[in-house]
Amino acid sequence: MLLIETLSPDKLGILAYTSSALLAFGAYLVYAAFSPSTKGSIRKLGGFPVLTAWSFFTKRYDFLWSNFAKSADPHFRFQVLQHQVVALRGEEARQVFFDTKSLDFTEGYKILMGASPSLDDIDVKTKFANEGVSFFNKQLAILFTNKRRLSDSKVGYSIHDWFLISLPLLFDDVNRRMVMWGKEGRMDPFKDIYDLVFQMTTRMASCDELSKDLDAISEIQKLYWMLEKSATPTALLLPWFPSRAKKNKEIATKELFMKLKGFVDMRREAKVPSSDAIDILIGQGQSTPEIVQFILSVVFAGVINTGINSCWALVFMSSHPEWKVKAKAEVDAMIEKHTNTTSGDPLHKRLSAVPVSVWEEEMPVMELIIRETLRLVMSTAALRRNILEDLTVSKGVIKPGDFVAYSVADAHRNPNIYRQPDEFDPDRFSPGREEDKKATFAFLGWGAGRHPCTGMKVAKLEIKLILAMMLAGYDFDIVDKAGKAPKEIPQPDRNDIHQVRPIFFLFRFSF
Ligand code: HEM
Ligand SMILES: *[C@@H]1O[C@H](CO)[C@@H](O)[C@H](O)[C@H]1NC(C)=O
Repeated sequence: MLLIETLSPDKLGILAYTSSALLAFGAYLVYAAFSPSTKGSIRKLGGFPVLTAWSFFTKRYDFLWSNFAKSADPHFRFQVLQHQVVALRGEEARQVFFDTKSLDFTEGYKILMGASPSLDDIDVKTKFANEGVSFFNKQLAILFTNKRRLSDSKVGYSIHDWFLISLPLLFDDVNRRMVMWGKEGRMDPFKDIYDLVFQMTTRMASCDELSKDLDAISEIQKLYWMLEKSATPTALLLPWFPSRAKKNKEIATKELFMKLKGFVDMRREAKVPSSDAIDILIGQGQSTPEIVQFILSVVFAGVINTGINSCWALVFMSSHPEWKVKAKAEVDAMIEKHTNTTSGDPLHKRLSAVPVSVWEEEMPVMELIIRETLRLVMSTAALRRNILEDLTVSKGVIKPGDFVAYSVADAHRNPNIYRQPDEFDPDRFSPGREEDKKATFAFLGWGAGRHPCTGMKVAKLEIKLILAMMLAGYDFDIVDKAGKAPKEIPQPDRNDIHQVRPIFFLFRFSF
């Protein structure tokens, strides 16, 4: 849901279904009805707003940075149809952006992002409609406070904050997927690792019955990607326009709702309550739509970000073998120290015996690798909407109703903060260098200020489990489509972090 970026060519392909002439005309009518007014002292982009809006949705990174490059100003203003958007850069802007109460998070993402499903769209009422991310945070907090009640009673279960994760069950899921990969071959991490993340996310956010049901998961996954692809510029810019994307979004949201509702109903009828997320929320008296919306929100907040960063961490380690060696040594030492070395258990059983506290606190190399991966991969724009009063930032006035965009690359790719910012160099965060401490909110991989990522701990744990399985279990190397070592180190596409040049792993099971 959160930093999901702009639109890939296949999403744009959906536009072929709509008539572009009609689209431009409709857009022009909207534009004409809300012609621009001079506001504040912020530089305003010229040009035809429909085109501006178009590139904001299709090539957001290039759009923002090419326009910053045209002036020394820390901000500029442009129009997305009837909406005013202010783009900011610089340390002062960053501080105001992340710390100011009147810059609303939920409103910011609602219109300008829009892939994540809202049951409101299909006329199912939930508290999400009014409270947005704060209701979601409350649900996460409920799962968090349930931790203690359960952790004493179940021997052999490692209960994690928030989600009552049973590591053995999670690792059984992981193992099932790995058995499907086979002992050696070629994998597409941006498919196979994503599938794994989807499986793990479902396990944490729903219930055992769903997590075990591979057919149900794969159907839900299909609907999820249908929603992802339905966030086309047309659907976002012209929500009233009856495009294919709009229709798909509605269908997918309805079907997702029905499928997940089936599992919530099943849990409501169960005689013995479990410690799964659905049961805990039922126990708190939450309605079925609220629980369904919760699962959808976790999936949308979690899958893309966790998937992308797990994949890129593996790719970066492959292209920087010294880090792969260091990380593997850390995992091997952990297995040696915290599991039964004479047991002959398979890898996933061994790993599931490691306490959560060890995963969280005793993996410094992995921490560095994950942090550096996030720095390089998260270069997208965070969004807010000013819902209260005039707000002055770097001498420019942001009006009530204005949207605000802050490109995280302003910090993450800033050579005054990070030396050689495009290099993968996890040691930049180590004691002695600590480049991320050089400026306010210089590291934004997990957000900052008023809206730090509520899922950070759980997401980090997920990434570590995946990296550990890969490092301890397999020899793997990146290859291109032709099966050869790539000529240059692959980099994320900053306009669209979904978009990857074909990257594969050649792997061989070696535990
Ligand atoms: C690697 C995985 C993840 C990354 C890199 C990530 C990153 C972020 C970032 C950068 C923000 C701040 C966005 C902004 O300020 O505009 C954020 C917020 C948030 N994230 Fe995550 N996230 C991840 C996984 C998750 C997961 C798994 C969940 C849910 C279980 C989650 C739930 C949230 C929520 C609820 C917020 C909003 C917090 C608030 O407004 O109070 N995230 N995340
Ligand atoms: C380790 O595994 C072996 C073989 O299954 C078993 O005999 C032994 O008791 C185990 N040790 C511990 C400390 O659990």
